[in-house]
Amino acid sequence: MNNDLVILGIESSCDDTSAAILRGSKVLSNIVANQSIHEKFGGVVPELASRAHQQNIVPVIDTAIKEANITKSDIDLIAYTKGPGLLGSLLVGSSFAKSLSLALNIPLVSVNHMQAHILAHFIEHEDQKKPEFPFLCLTVSGGHTQIVKVNGFNKMKIIGTTLDDAAGEAFDKSAKVLGLKYPGGPLIDKYAKNGDINSYVFGKPKIKGLDFSFSGLKTSIMNTINVSLQKDPNFIKNNLNDLCASIQHSIIKILLDKIIIASKETKISNIAIAGGVSANSYLRKKLNELARETDFKIYIPKFEYCTDNGAMIAIAGKYKYINEKSKTDYSESASARLSF
Ligand code: KG4
Ligand code: ZN
Repeated sequence: MNNDLVILGIESSCDDTSAAILRGSKVLSNIVANQSIHEKFGGVVPELASRAHQQNIVPVIDTAIKEANITKSDIDLIAYTKGPGLLGSLLVGSSFAKSLSLALNIPLVSVNHMQAHILAHFIEHEDQKKPEFPFLCLTVSGGHTQIVKVNGFNKMKIIGTTLDDAAGEAFDKSAKVLGLKYPGGPLIDKYAKNGDINSYVFGKPKIKGLDFSFSGLKTSIMNTINVSLQKDPNFIKNNLNDLCASIQHSIIKILLDKIIIASKETKISNIAIAGGVSANSYLRKKLNELARETDFKIYIPKFEYCTDNGAMIAIAGKYKYINEKSKTDYSESASARLSF
């Protein structure tokens, strides 16, 4: 029965409107509409994001249903992102999910976006490698940076978090200083491929325990660039690849150093990554190197399930529904600062 459950997952927490249809744990469709409107502002403008979600939500869900080759009446469960995220954006997805559930009399479950990033590892596909419990997950996105101890599908505990910026934010803010469009993470990743990681050395955070900090690194990057621009106005253009490689190396090193400490402290050597920054090619390469040199078992999600997507919401909804036997009440509201 659970392997036949047809689930519609709706994601609208930030600037991507996404809907997916899963049968059991297999993806029948996963549609993502990105919002290019934010590019020129160097970051997501919340008001514009919610307006774009409103324009996108009906065509995105309609396309997901058509591409899955099902009809609305085949859907057994609707899962939506309750939070965390931008409230105006969350309200569009949650209101739509509630209305559809009520109109079609389909059970509804609310999902925590950060837990869904982690559970994306359980979406079935040809080269899937399911993490074994317990595992540690480095969850790195535009809004969050966490180390999560995952004991089961719905048993997760945050054991480290950022005290200021998120890792994705560190990528995006650095990219903005370099004059690159939002989101800058994928662009830094691209230019870094032809750069030297040792070209520039930036300040390192001195945070005890498993928490992170990226604000000092951001200041150090800005200072290096501003001083160099005074001497050479073409400094960024002439050194873009090296700058990107050094910035990327600094951010990823902060992440890796902490996950190694977390593994030692918890004695857990199953390590997974999740969230938008887990799409980063240098992070993936370094983790694979680590797996060869240590007893770490590394789990890296399929590229399309790293950044925000409806499929991860659907799989998280499935586990919440079948394990907790819980349905969400229509009075439950979206929550911008939802924790675990
Ligand atoms: O999980 P996500 O799609 O949205 C949030 O929940 O925030 O993550 C978006 C973040 C952005 O900061 C983006 O720059 C970053 O993920 N990102 C990357 C890469 N692809 C996306 N950062 C570094 N390298 C990448 N290849
Ligand atoms: Zn996300």
